[in-house]
Amino acid sequence: MALIAPSLLASNFLRLEEECKMVNESSADRFHLDVMDGRFVPNISFGIPVIEHIKTVATKPCEVHLMIEEPEKFAEAFKKAGADILIVHLETCRNLYSNIQQIKSLGMKAGVAINPHTPVAFLSEILEDIDEVCVMSVNPGFGGQKFIGHTCEKIRELRKMIHDRGLHVQIEIDGGVTLENAAGIMHSGADVLVAGNTVFKSPDPKNVIEQLRFY
Ligand code: DX5
Ligand code: ZN
Repeated sequence: MALIAPSLLASNFLRLEEECKMVNESSADRFHLDVMDGRFVPNISFGIPVIEHIKTVATKPCEVHLMIEEPEKFAEAFKKAGADILIVHLETCRNLYSNIQQIKSLGMKAGVAINPHTPVAFLSEILEDIDEVCVMSVNPGFGGQKFIGHTCEKIRELRKMIHDRGLHVQIEIDGGVTLENAAGIMHSGADVLVAGNTVFKSPDPKNVIEQLRFY
């Protein structure tokens, strides 16, 4: 069964409390919160004050996906805002091992995201130290994009690396997940599906979450 992380980026921000409550009442496992800085990615989303408010309503863990430069400057602030899992991008971290140590020492789980062009092999020396890999299946920065098909090959490769080393790192797929492609993604070896538009643009989001879980 898939773990589901609805991405609030696709939610209606005017009704954020209701959207959070929908996730609470659904069979989703965690909140996925996308933070963008307009530098690492060509878009700006929301930040610390909004996450603080989400945290007052959320009854499930909050994972914060940092699409920002110099994430080490803000790790402590995101912890204070309520992040349970902090995901940094491999492409923005010149000292990735140190970033991971910082996140863990602050008491959060640590995730590393990789862009579509970044080979899975680049995770080789960090895999033992992290809780989750977030494999981007679209270009980071926007919701509602089309799933990049060859991501499934990366998932298979990563699953093998994790299996061969006897690790328990979760594989999360982020971007363009739909009811049509979820089965193939899970079959490739994913654990967690992030879903933004597929969930929040549906007339029955809870039902969509429930359907995604069974792939
Ligand atoms: C993209 C974000 C994703 C996005 C997914 O940069 O990291 O989490 O919100 O949205 P959908 O599921 O609509 O592609
Ligand atoms: Zn994301």
